[in-house]
Amino acid sequence: MSAHSIPRHIAVVMDGNGRWAQKRFLPRVAGHRQGVEAVRALIRSAGEHGVESLTVFAFSSENWQRPADEVSFLMDLFLRALRDEVQKMHANGIRFRAVGDTSVLDDETRRLIDDAERLTAQNLKLKFNVAVNYGGRWDIEQAVAKAAGLGDSSRFAEFLAFAGQTDPDLFIRTGGERRISNFLLWQMAYTELYFTDTLWPDFGADEFEKALAWYAIRERRFGKTSDQIRETVPAAL
Ligand code: IPE
Ligand code: IPE
Ligand code: MG
Repeated sequence: MSAHSIPRHIAVVMDGNGRWAQKRFLPRVAGHRQGVEAVRALIRSAGEHGVESLTVFAFSSENWQRPADEVSFLMDLFLRALRDEVQKMHANGIRFRAVGDTSVLDDETRRLIDDAERLTAQNLKLKFNVAVNYGGRWDIEQAVAKAAGLGDSSRFAEFLAFAGQTDPDLFIRTGGERRISNFLLWQMAYTELYFTDTLWPDFGADEFEKALAWYAIRERRFGKTSDQIRETVPAAL
């Protein structure tokens, strides 16, 4: 696979944890715990393939509506992952960012996020974004509000949570649903959308390779014609 066929930025909706657990007669939260392992594997695979940015959807603005014990388990899992993984990420050259409305998270989690972002800010190997309490609509609304404060709403894109980062080239959703579920609405205007029935805890390196292979044969036209796109590709490629 040539370098240009590797997506620079991959965004992932990690769906299907609950069903993974229920299939095994386990509580839903066992699926979330297992899902953390799949995130570790994904970070490793993405790094090996030279992906520049990886954004995973960990908790949506709408997920607060779940049963309180599941919500608190997920928050606790995030806190523990921050405690356990940040040093390793730093050692591996990964830049960590939490993206979303983190203002409502508990003090300890916010402190760990701040520390992790500061510690890893200069790392260049892989930009790893975790979307937590994130919603595409929230992002657009908060950015518009900030731009309106400046008296220039047209500048709202500068205030999006992902300002300064490239738009995702590849979107992956596990778990069988074919929907965006309020993920990166503005940023995914031209993203290639890949859906798999595999449940998130089962999404391993081989599944990731399949998604990359599918991406590699897309023709990204951005509104142009196929002929125009092929004209710009040097014959040697
Ligand atoms: C994704 O798995 C994780 C989160 C949304 C936090 P789900 O918990 O949505 O799993 P299913 O879709 O119920 O199987
Ligand atoms: C999307 O999954 C959000 C995350 C993976 C964090 P959901 O399970 O919340 O999505 P819906 O409700 O099926 O659309
Ligand atoms: Mg789900």
